Amino acid sequence: MAYLNPATTPITIPDVRQRKAEGKKIVMVTCYDAAFAKIIDQTPVDIVLVGDSLGNVMLGYANTIPVTMEDMIHHTAAVHRSLHRPLLCADMPFMSYQVSKEQALQNAGRLMKDAGAQAVKLEGGREIAATVRALTEVGIPVMGHLGLMPQRVHAAGGYKVQGRNPESAKLLLEDAKILVEAGIFALVLEMVPTSVAKQVTDSISVPTIGIGAGSSCDGQVLVLQDLLGFDDTFQPRFLKKYANLGSSVRDAVNTYAQDVREGVFPGKEHGFGD
Ligand code: KIV
Repeated sequence: MAYLNPATTPITIPDVRQRKAEGKKIVMVTCYDAAFAKIIDQTPVDIVLVGDSLGNVMLGYANTIPVTMEDMIHHTAAVHRSLHRPLLCADMPFMSYQVSKEQALQNAGRLMKDAGAQAVKLEGGREIAATVRALTEVGIPVMGHLGLMPQRVHAAGGYKVQGRNPESAKLLLEDAKILVEAGIFALVLEMVPTSVAKQVTDSISVPTIGIGAGSSCDGQVLVLQDLLGFDDTFQPRFLKKYANLGSSVRDAVNTYAQDVREGVFPGKEHGFGD
């Protein structure tokens, strides 16, 4: 049997499921372009999510609602071209799966066939269970997403912690079980109390991946630009910044501008001889 190097062997859906049994935390980050995908490919990240958060992060929208299938395909394909090891999951954008099972199948198929996604993520609970089943039955791996569902920001009245009271926590737990029954291979829990996330994690057979859901989840996800500290003004409670790239980029471009204006750049060494 060929030797499989764990540092370069592609991560599969069974590997992700297995992580829960092994008690090994899953690491997921978002990514939206080939340049960052190339860097992420050299790290031990397990799953790359082309999130519809690209609407806010890359396209300047106020929320994820305007994101289209074309946007998702364009960005997922770009990530796919530079990504070889982590599992590539793409978000299904708002209204690309809610209309009918047929619509969901066609659009999930496009993300896999045209963009290279290996799995898709859908926001919702019991109301999308039949759609999740239709997708998983034909071999499309589905990641669920409960708690704060940004595609429903207007209905929720903002980006608020979900599942705070016993009734909503009970509904969330039921939804999680229904989604598992429908075939999801993993479940994102966004902005739910730590104790609720723990209860869900302990009650279902597939891994939970938390964002603002505490440390009991089977894995964690952060938006890449958030963890890299692109925006000094964005500091939600759940976010830990691992770099300060916003100010690094500003400093670098300021220095470049100064060098150009003072005639320091380009130097002799940057020019070509005759
Ligand atoms: O779109 C996104 O980035 C997400 C993650 C925050 C889970 O759904």
